[in-house]
Amino acid sequence: MADPMAHNELPQKKKLYIETVGCQMNMLDSELVVAKLRNEGYELTLDIGQADTILYNTCSVRQHAEDKIYSALGRIKTIKQQKPEVSIGVLGCMAQKDQGQILKRAPHVDIVVGPGQLGRVSELLAKAKEDRAPQMAVSLARTGGSRDHVTESFAEYDPLREPAMRPTPHQAFVRIMMGCDKFCTYCIVPSVRGPEQSRPPDGIVEEARQLAEQGVKEITLLGQTVNSYKFKTPDGRTTRLSDLLERLHDIPGLVRIKFITSFPNDMTDDLLQAVRDLPKMSRYLHVPAQSGCDEILKRMKRLYTVALYDDMMARIHETIPGVAVSSDFIVGFCGETEKSFEKSIRLVERSRFKNSFIFKYSPRTGTKADDLYADDIPEGVKKRRNNDLLAVQNAICAEDNRPFVGRTVEILVEGPSKTAQRHASEGFGPIQMTGRTSCDRIVVYEGNARQAGELLPVTITEATPMTLFGEVMTTALVGIGA
Ligand code: 5AD
Ligand code: SF4
Repeated sequence: MADPMAHNELPQKKKLYIETVGCQMNMLDSELVVAKLRNEGYELTLDIGQADTILYNTCSVRQHAEDKIYSALGRIKTIKQQKPEVSIGVLGCMAQKDQGQILKRAPHVDIVVGPGQLGRVSELLAKAKEDRAPQMAVSLARTGGSRDHVTESFAEYDPLREPAMRPTPHQAFVRIMMGCDKFCTYCIVPSVRGPEQSRPPDGIVEEARQLAEQGVKEITLLGQTVNSYKFKTPDGRTTRLSDLLERLHDIPGLVRIKFITSFPNDMTDDLLQAVRDLPKMSRYLHVPAQSGCDEILKRMKRLYTVALYDDMMARIHETIPGVAVSSDFIVGFCGETEKSFEKSIRLVERSRFKNSFIFKYSPRTGTKADDLYADDIPEGVKKRRNNDLLAVQNAICAEDNRPFVGRTVEILVEGPSKTAQRHASEGFGPIQMTGRTSCDRIVVYEGNARQAGELLPVTITEATPMTLFGEVMTTALVGIGA
């Protein structure tokens, strides 16, 4: 009988190529999918031409993100023609939103898997091969606020984490909530990611403890409205985000804890006090305002007024010295006049955000805004408002970064900067490293790769709007308020 191992050949591992677009939630989903597939004999490749399986983890928050995926699917059609054995998968939010449409537009796709079904990717890949037919796994349609949408994927702690897919070996995302119940009128997320559910705190703490044991120094807690976190145990006790932070803070090995993204109405005093009082907490909050105009906020169904947002900003700054806040804005939302847009400019000026993510309104089929209102702001006007708001924000970034020159701040080192990574093979000696202050400001300094994961004091020598540059001062005293 022929011995299959006669030439000492190990069975060839299947090669997996994965591209992820969208938010941190998607990055974490990809990490979990890859972990599971690695465990089943796949290995990662960065070369799409070498891959046996090509996966796209998609986003549907804006049209642009979807267009990118459809054009990538168009480009890889030739790969499938030349190598029909290659499997192609579309995962995540766009899979949930477009479902069978994807197979119509790109018949060479083998699997379509929504965010609630990602635990089934390997099973669906195998079934598509076996049946020689595309497979689709998506959650039930969700109508405004109903709870029939099952989103159980990876709900519980999945120990098969994939370090190579983490942002860096020392940083990890931890999902504490899934879905969203806010139903902002422009947003597709509640219908593709399902209802808001908070994870039991014990599972979260256990996951964070295991990550810390693997060498993770910083965890970022994820949720669409992360500060709405609430878990009621059968004995009637409620764990709030502030309670959870206290428990996570006790985990040895962790040095920094962040949470994103927050909803203005739920920025309670107990949470702000926890950020102030727990030394491992990053003094950074991401609280999207979306608009500075009450009429627009009402049309967006954001559930707060500009006055409430202003009051929240005042409470944040009163409670947490040296805190940095970032925000999101949508420009060109239906009915946004020049006057309403100017109110967004004023809000950015008053709030002095560390940074703002600014988006042009992109109508999404299936949302309230798309049903109720006309997308009446011309693309050129959206673009101009985007640039104008960005210019105001950039000026604030420049002004607020400048006073850092001469100060010594403590950073958590993330690793070689992008340019340093490219040049790493060219020689030894010091390289450009990056890290972040407690307030999430990016700092670049000359150091060495072994410093990744360390807390280091760095004296700032130069400031640009987005980046601080500095030198390591090993003996310097470290100031707070970075
Ligand atoms: N068009 C433009 N931007 C959007 N966002 C969400 N939905 C849309 C949309 N339809 C933005 C919001 C949100 C961020 C993640 O994406 O600002 O905070
Ligand atoms: Fe979308 Fe609003 Fe939920 Fe954020 S809070 S995910 S913008 S519906």
